[in-house]
Amino acid sequence: MKAKNQHGIHSPFVYELYNNVIKDQTPFYVFSDIESIRAKLLLTNMEIEVNDYGAGSQIHSSNKRKVSAIAKNSLKAPKYAQLLFRLVNRFKPQNVLELGTSLGISTLYLAASNTKNVITTVEGCPNVAKVAQINFDKLGCKNIRLVNQQFDAFLPEYLKTVSSLDFVFFDGNHTKEATLRYFNWCVEKANSNSIFVFDDIYWSNGMNEAWQEIKQHPKVTTTIDLFAVGIVFFNPDLSKEHFVLRY
Ligand SMILES: C[S@@+](CC[C@H](N)C(=O)[O-])C[C@H]1O[C@@H](n2cnc3c(N)ncnc32)[C@H](O)[C@@H]1O
Repeated sequence: MKAKNQHGIHSPFVYELYNNVIKDQTPFYVFSDIESIRAKLLLTNMEIEVNDYGAGSQIHSSNKRKVSAIAKNSLKAPKYAQLLFRLVNRFKPQNVLELGTSLGISTLYLAASNTKNVITTVEGCPNVAKVAQINFDKLGCKNIRLVNQQFDAFLPEYLKTVSSLDFVFFDGNHTKEATLRYFNWCVEKANSNSIFVFDDIYWSNGMNEAWQEIKQHPKVTTTIDLFAVGIVFFNPDLSKEHFVLRY
């Protein structure tokens, strides 16, 4: 209800980003390749044994799930996955980290916009990760490194190996505590051009509390709340301002 359109944006950076990147509807050719993979997943009745380490298991109960059900309930819709593509296309981050691969649809969007960057994507469930790898191979994406590990085991070790994080998509383990823990680890490696994207910032009270805390962090400057996702910037030339925009 509070969300504004471009007329309420006084920041030139956010105004330009909103009009030319966030709301851009150019259909890049790779979108249809990725969406045809999603369409096949939605028709795949094969069942796989799933270990869900996050808080996202509310919809599913049993450990055996159809690939089609995972594709229907766990993946970012095209509108938001394509926004990830456009953000990477615009800012050209050298390294991209995704926490929560699932079947790999958002990873494909992150990887497709700039084949020169390296995407590291992390998925805890081995069977889900196997399906994701098949999808990466289908599109011949060579710039994706899929890590089958739990975030809490992976992140501290990974962060020792990188000097900075350019782009991070947080899309797994949607609890307040886990989200803030991963943010607080990653923020140590944020540079002035880093962009962090948080999924499902209104999914629960806890996720919303996490989002409010993230906005207050001293390194965070501008944030953009699109309801389904929150985008965080660290550039000190931008004002500390929090935009809620219609998308
Ligand atoms: C919402 S899905 C990711 C969807 C994907 N980003 C997309 O939009 O195409 C979240 C994934 O994170 C994984 N996950 C959740 N918590 C995790 C944890 N603590 N460690 C590793 N993987 C985890 C789940 O197994 C699940 O497959």
